[in-house]
Amino acid sequence: MKSAKPYIEQNKQRFLDELIELLKIPSISADSAYKQDILKTAEAVKIQLEKAGCDLVEICKTPGNPIVYGEKIIDKNLPTVLVYGHYDVQPPDPLNLWVNPPFEPVIKKTKIHPEGAIFARGSCDDKGQMYMHVKALEYMTETNQLPCNVKFMIEGEEEIGSVSLGWFVKRNLEKLKNDVILISDTGMISNNTPSITTGLRGLSYVEVEVTGPNRDLHSGLYGGAVANPINILSKMIASLHDENNHITIPGFYDDVEELSKEERDKMAEAPFDLKAYQKSLDIDAVYGEKGFSTNERNSIRPTLDVNGIWGGYIGEGAKTVIPSQAFAKISMRLVPDQDWEKITELFKNHFESIAPEGVRVKVKPHHGGEAYVTPIDNIGYLAAEKAYENTFGKTPIPQRSGGSIPIVALFERELKSKTILMGFGLDSDAIHSPNEHFGVWNYLKGIETIPQFYHHFTEMSKK
Ligand code: BES
Ligand code: MN
Ligand code: MN
Repeated sequence: MKSAKPYIEQNKQRFLDELIELLKIPSISADSAYKQDILKTAEAVKIQLEKAGCDLVEICKTPGNPIVYGEKIIDKNLPTVLVYGHYDVQPPDPLNLWVNPPFEPVIKKTKIHPEGAIFARGSCDDKGQMYMHVKALEYMTETNQLPCNVKFMIEGEEEIGSVSLGWFVKRNLEKLKNDVILISDTGMISNNTPSITTGLRGLSYVEVEVTGPNRDLHSGLYGGAVANPINILSKMIASLHDENNHITIPGFYDDVEELSKEERDKMAEAPFDLKAYQKSLDIDAVYGEKGFSTNERNSIRPTLDVNGIWGGYIGEGAKTVIPSQAFAKISMRLVPDQDWEKITELFKNHFESIAPEGVRVKVKPHHGGEAYVTPIDNIGYLAAEKAYENTFGKTPIPQRSGGSIPIVALFERELKSKTILMGFGLDSDAIHSPNEHFGVWNYLKGIETIPQFYHHFTEMSKK
């Protein structure tokens, strides 16, 4: 396949302008106040898929946010690539930390992105990365080079746990039939060191509630005589890790996949600069489970983290009070072979069992999902490897990520196909954080690399 570079160079400004239009719509799935913007974004994605050459595009209703489905079937005997992505975004807050408003995209140069980066919520996660696939399709259809069939499934609930996607997939197995699933919703090591994500962690997300006395009390009159739910909750949370930062929930590690020494040695070869890592986060040391490196801690090991904790008086000044209740949101990142429902159950039983007398504890499970690993000897991976070799001039490094896209394990179970994670974002792109951005170079490199994947995958499927 010819290099898409000249076509991209000619159309660069339009590619950027179109993405910027999409980024202006605040498609925040977590907040129902943005429902209209969700629908508006789905509509915009539909129009762009039609323009890029899909023969059929529909907005599919679900019990939640709609899924945009598109396809271009050129020959039933050729392989089919199914592209998945999401058009919903994370809430942008804290708003005051954004240098430019989150839904008024601007392109600015940064140290890591000397050619400029698009600053906006969703620029990297995942509108920008999803849109690379739309533009790659445009390139292939406009230049008569689409080598196989393509289907798109772009959802609007990824950031809230893909609640309706399983429902949709199970009802549309025939429609979604494919030979490989292609996703750009992860990252790579750096612009000089391309990598392909070969693993995602699973997730169990729970909320806990500790209740003491039936009302907030004067902390002088009652202090010392009754259990303070915030004190108790802090103690309970602190006890969930031991002095080696191992998680103390009985049975938590039972099913954890242990990697061989060879696998761990291989992982350690990936370039990693601990000093630069610490500097970028303004910390003087890393922290984590004893016996594992930073790259292992955030990819092949399970974790337990408090994501939010509240209760009592947090207004201005001081108020002497013992709160009636305390709350926390807790996530556990899981690794292959851990079952998220089993882990949720273990957490619930353990957390309830360590509650002292004088308080009542409730554990409310939220969403979850299984971890995922792709083997690197299948044609999907090999085709992706070749594609990066064509456009980066380097062999990409296989790397497991610490993030989660819980629906990927469901795809494998229901659709029986492998997922290839060709992510072009960088860890420093600040996804989910204020000032999220996506390198212009990365955006265009993605558009250039994706058609090469189609080409090699189709060729390798023939053999
Ligand atoms: N795209 C991210 C996941 C991701 C980012 C994986 C970078 C690997 C590298 C996705 O949108 C996301 O944020 N997932 C959530 C889970 C979901 C259930 C809310 C996550 O990982 O927290
Ligand atoms: Mn994402
Ligand atoms: Mn996300």
